Amino acid sequence: MNDLIWGVTIAAAQTEGAYNLDGKGASIWDKFTEKRRKIKDGSNARVAIDFYHRYQEDIDLAARIGLKIFRFSVSWPRILPEGTGKVNLKGIEFYNKVINCCLEAGLEPWITTYHWDLPQKLQELGGWTNRDVVSWYTDYVSILREHFADRVTHWILINEGIVCMGGGYFLGVHAPGKIGISNFLASTHHLLLAQAKGFKVLKQKEGLQVGTAISCTKIEPYKNTSRDVQTAKRIDTLMNRLFIEPHLGMGYPEEDLPILKGMSKYCKKNDIQDLTTDFDFWGIQTYTREVVKSAWYIPYLGAMLVKPKHRNVETSIMGWETYPDGIPYFLERFAKYDPDKPLWLSECGMALAEDEDDSKRIDYYKKVIIGMDTVLRKGVRLQGILLWTLVDNFEWAEGYVPKFGIISFDPTTLDRTFKKTAHWLQDYLSNVKL
Ligand code: NOJ
Repeated sequence: MNDLIWGVTIAAAQTEGAYNLDGKGASIWDKFTEKRRKIKDGSNARVAIDFYHRYQEDIDLAARIGLKIFRFSVSWPRILPEGTGKVNLKGIEFYNKVINCCLEAGLEPWITTYHWDLPQKLQELGGWTNRDVVSWYTDYVSILREHFADRVTHWILINEGIVCMGGGYFLGVHAPGKIGISNFLASTHHLLLAQAKGFKVLKQKEGLQVGTAISCTKIEPYKNTSRDVQTAKRIDTLMNRLFIEPHLGMGYPEEDLPILKGMSKYCKKNDIQDLTTDFDFWGIQTYTREVVKSAWYIPYLGAMLVKPKHRNVETSIMGWETYPDGIPYFLERFAKYDPDKPLWLSECGMALAEDEDDSKRIDYYKKVIIGMDTVLRKGVRLQGILLWTLVDNFEWAEGYVPKFGIISFDPTTLDRTFKKTAHWLQDYLSNVKL
């Protein structure tokens, strides 16, 4: 346990603000938040928590708590306002400052290349549904490598493919708000292909550690009937296998998720081979558990969620079941794919409402620690944990209501204040590391 490294994850679109400053182009989230009724509290992330101007303060706070890794994402439209072509040097300068500031504060900077904020200009050309996105993305990644890889060793390519593709191109609840199975299959295939090629681009530089961050959600059948069990298997394949197995050389798991047969329309000759990627590590991110039941009338998936509020379980302000047991479950499950692969909990946290007692979050993290201890004893190669997140911020379609931070901010002054969890963690880390 004492060897585990603790850090934190943030993302550009949720924290930076400065949405049109210093040459930044619009992202699909800038556009999406302009639409009516897409964001629950009607908010946007134009200012967010102004990390763009307060990065130094936030990095210093993370260091003060005793964290050792600062994972942030780069905003693609801040680097390439048009998505391709001319580089915005002010954008490069900003991330140089963030990286240097981390190093000075004794934190290792990690970069996420894509945390959901595609340049709007590229969306106008079809976004992830256009196969050209593979080369748009790899060109972008090579720019990041050229400017930042001298100081940044750990890289995460795509953050939570299932969430940005499922939410953005299937259900339409996230940017860019597209729906339908064709959008989903095309964009998913291109995203995976882009990630596989992006890996190769980064690995051209020696010594880099390049991984991916996978969203995982434990799926259970509602009843122990063969229909519900089959349904759970289908949804589990979608949520927990689709974004890793193609990279393991296993192809698309279409046996267990028949809609994937439609992938053949987008797959060119060598694609399945090209998807195979030996990442240096896998990042696991899991927040909750879902229960599903068979529902023939639901197109494509034939499944319905049994909402946590109908299951008599503890839920968070996100409406998600609080389920720390998912953490050891998925760490062990991924270790089965490859016991030698280093694993990270590349995000981990829980949301509370404004007026809830922060001790609940401490209890959650205590359970996480027990879970991590259990798997370490079983020999799982867990390296560390990155908290989601440092300061409360823009929680996508949920706006600012769910509070995932261990630090709060004042909506008027943007001043930061430690919550109980930050104090507790500071204490914990100073003792555990003695
Ligand atoms: C995962 C996502 O990567 C992050 O952006 C989000 O805020 C958290 N989960 C909480 O929903």
